[in-house]
Amino acid sequence: MLELKKESKSRTMTTVIEVQGLQKSFKDVHVLNDVSFQVDKGTIFALLGSNGAGKTTIINILTTLIKADNGMASVAGFDVTKQSGKVREQISLTGQFAAVDNRLTARENLVLIGDLRHVVNSAKTAVELLDKFKLTEAADRSVTTFSGGMRRRLDIAMSLIGTPVVIFLDEPTTGFDPEARNEMWQIIRKLASNGTTVFLTTQYLEEADELADRIVVLHKGTIVANGSANELKKLVPKGSVELAFQDEKSVATATHVLEKHYAIRNEEGLRLAVATKGSVFEVAKVFSLLSKAHLEPTEFTQKTATLDDVFLKIIGKEEK
Ligand SMILES: Nc1ncnc2c1ncn2[C@@H]1O[C@H](COP(=O)(O)OP(=O)(O)OP(=O)(O)O)[C@@H](O)[C@H]1O
Ligand SMILES: [Mg+2]
Repeated sequence: MLELKKESKSRTMTTVIEVQGLQKSFKDVHVLNDVSFQVDKGTIFALLGSNGAGKTTIINILTTLIKADNGMASVAGFDVTKQSGKVREQISLTGQFAAVDNRLTARENLVLIGDLRHVVNSAKTAVELLDKFKLTEAADRSVTTFSGGMRRRLDIAMSLIGTPVVIFLDEPTTGFDPEARNEMWQIIRKLASNGTTVFLTTQYLEEADELADRIVVLHKGTIVANGSANELKKLVPKGSVELAFQDEKSVATATHVLEKHYAIRNEEGLRLAVATKGSVFEVAKVFSLLSKAHLEPTEFTQKTATLDDVFLKIIGKEEK
């Protein structure tokens, strides 16, 4: 693993989530291998990984829904296995799939949860949350008429009732259009600025880059990097080269030729990202290799380091 900052093994005053050596298998499928990390209070923490990496499994363990086979985890100082009731009092979870009741209106959903959590004035809390999440106008409409973004906002509003110390958001923006994603990012930033610790999972590097104070990259159940976006970007000094080709066949040949020397990733639109160190000679070598294979890219761009490049470097040419 690429550990960028030496983390103290002992829990500090500001640590709100501590995970040590978590292991989890479903039957003979190993899903988590020795996962360890810490989350500081009041920060935004992103667990970044592709489909099946194990993100939801970690969230499920931390929110006491399932048990790890090995290792320990604590949230707000309470052990997730031995003190699961205490943990549940400190947290809220917005799962990967919205948990709103479609038969009710937005307001009714909020009041219902407020009553369940013994909030003193759940009607007033509902009004405040409707306003905060820009749902006032739609407050008395049945949730069936809501867009995906509205449903997600309501879902998060519901999870905030009772002021949790840590809020877990499992892929809060998957499937969102850019506008809805931006709105959600603002909400998440606001939550953190009010002192709530936000633990989110995402498949989007850009999202982790935008939001997170600390990013842990999970790949096939193993942590492969841990640091801030800037720290991670420093792993890739000068970025990568992006090439576009005429047809699938050229992309396949170029991949074959280049993958012996560089980490390659297929991008949309007959494009390849090639992780070079960015020096002029290296870029020249890429073209020389292509030229020997009688391949001429239709476009060429040299990109500055992004988290994509980091991903490419860390997990090589494997599919994200
Ligand atoms: N209850 C289960 N029984 C068997 N296998 C499971 C179970 N839950 C998860 N898995 C497997 O564990 C692996 C990790 O799943 P998990 O849902 O944690 O991934 P994820 O990172 O959340 O993926 P996604 O981005 O698709 O939500 C996958 O291979 C999945 O098929
Ligand atoms: Mg998941």
